[in-house]
Amino acid sequence: MSFFFNFPLVTFFLSIFLLSPISLATSNLHPFKKVYVFGDSYTDTGNTNDTTGPSIYRHVSSLPYGRTFFHRSTNRYSDGRLFIDFVAESLNLPYFPPYLNKTADTTHGVNFAVSGCTTVPISFYLKNNATATAVPQSLPTQLTWFKDHIKGSGCKDIVSTPAQCTAVFDGALVWMGEISANDYINIYGTNISSKTVKKLAVKYQTKVIKELLKMGAKYLVVQGLPATGCFPLAFAQVPPPVERDDMGCLTIKNKESYDHNTALQEKLHELRNEFPSAVIVYGDDWHAYREVYANAAKYGFVERFKTCCGSGGGEFNFIARPESTCGAPGTSSCKHPLRYMSWDGLHVTEGLNRVLSKMFLDGAFAQPSFPYLLEKAAESRV
Ligand SMILES: *[C@@H]1O[C@H](CO)[C@@H](O)[C@H](O)[C@H]1NC(C)=O
Ligand SMILES: *[C@@H]1O[C@H](CO)[C@@H](O)[C@H](O)[C@H]1NC(C)=O
Ligand SMILES: *[C@@H]1O[C@H](CO)[C@@H](O)[C@H](O)[C@H]1NC(C)=O
Ligand SMILES: *[C@@H]1O[C@H](CO)[C@@H](O)[C@H](O)[C@H]1NC(C)=O
Repeated sequence: MSFFFNFPLVTFFLSIFLLSPISLATSNLHPFKKVYVFGDSYTDTGNTNDTTGPSIYRHVSSLPYGRTFFHRSTNRYSDGRLFIDFVAESLNLPYFPPYLNKTADTTHGVNFAVSGCTTVPISFYLKNNATATAVPQSLPTQLTWFKDHIKGSGCKDIVSTPAQCTAVFDGALVWMGEISANDYINIYGTNISSKTVKKLAVKYQTKVIKELLKMGAKYLVVQGLPATGCFPLAFAQVPPPVERDDMGCLTIKNKESYDHNTALQEKLHELRNEFPSAVIVYGDDWHAYREVYANAAKYGFVERFKTCCGSGGGEFNFIARPESTCGAPGTSSCKHPLRYMSWDGLHVTEGLNRVLSKMFLDGAFAQPSFPYLLEKAAESRV
């Protein structure tokens, strides 16, 4: 926390700024009225729960999940806010409610993200006996939910129903959080190669993004995979001896996510050419993670690999079994979550989400930058 507000002077100017009429001018830079959100557990604000989540994490519906910020479980896989929650705050919008909560107010957005969700339809994994996460939803399911959500609007696509689709996407940001990490988790110990998964996952993700663009989405953020080789779960999945990269993370897993991101970015490049009036931001989480893992102390972190919440002690304090992961009887959570980067072995702490989201919102680790997207969206509203 203190990292961002080290200087009293900064705080002073900030409060002047927030209280003065100048802040009216900045509302131009908050051009979004609503956000449609997609993704997996890194972005899910409550579509999941204990009984439906990924099979090795079975305790998301109670404390210590949520302990740092909400002080109760909200079915988010963290001790507090997720990256998308910080995005909501920066846009002056309420947190985006989970789609499955039918009583929530969806005026300012809906979150379709599902924990454990894959990008490739689950039938592919079932057919190949690859069911590590075993969650029935995939990214195409989320698109189906989105279509169901806007069903009353009459929007089919921007060509045949322009007025209806313009209304659906008026002042709307489409946020596609990290997705496909579960596809790679699923294939561990199976005969499916990561090359196959890369090809299929990028294909399905591109297809979903393209459908949204055809419906009329104009402003999109697509987050790439994080540096997946840095998570305790990755170390638990890959038997020793392991090679560790310059961040101390698993070389083979970080290369896998890096390669995936390269393939994804090629497709985003094609989509930008095909839909030149849309702004598609690539969120380069991989390099953002790299920056923080390589300079953890600078960002206020003491523990890079040890989970705050888990069991087993040692370098990772993590055992990849439902009866040993965060929240299970006999496990405990650390005294100072802010000093930790890993919350439960796969998901990260509010502290890390805060640091990563701030970098992104300020314009780093994205192509083009998020402030550029805000500017473009603001211009179009004048
Ligand atoms: C968990 O989620 C499923 C699917 O959304 C829902 O049917 C069930 O009622 C939820 N359970 C709890 C305890 O919230
Ligand atoms: C659903 O949303 C309503 C309105 O925000 C809230 O009061 C309720 O607690 C939510 N339900 C769940 C299961 O989170
Ligand atoms: C999946 O598992 C079943 C039962 O163990 C087996 O009969 C089948 O051959 C397996 N399929 C593949 C593709 O490995
Ligand atoms: C992988 O393929 C080999 C050879 O085809 C087979 O013997 C083995 O059972 C397969 N493993 C799994 C997990 O399907």
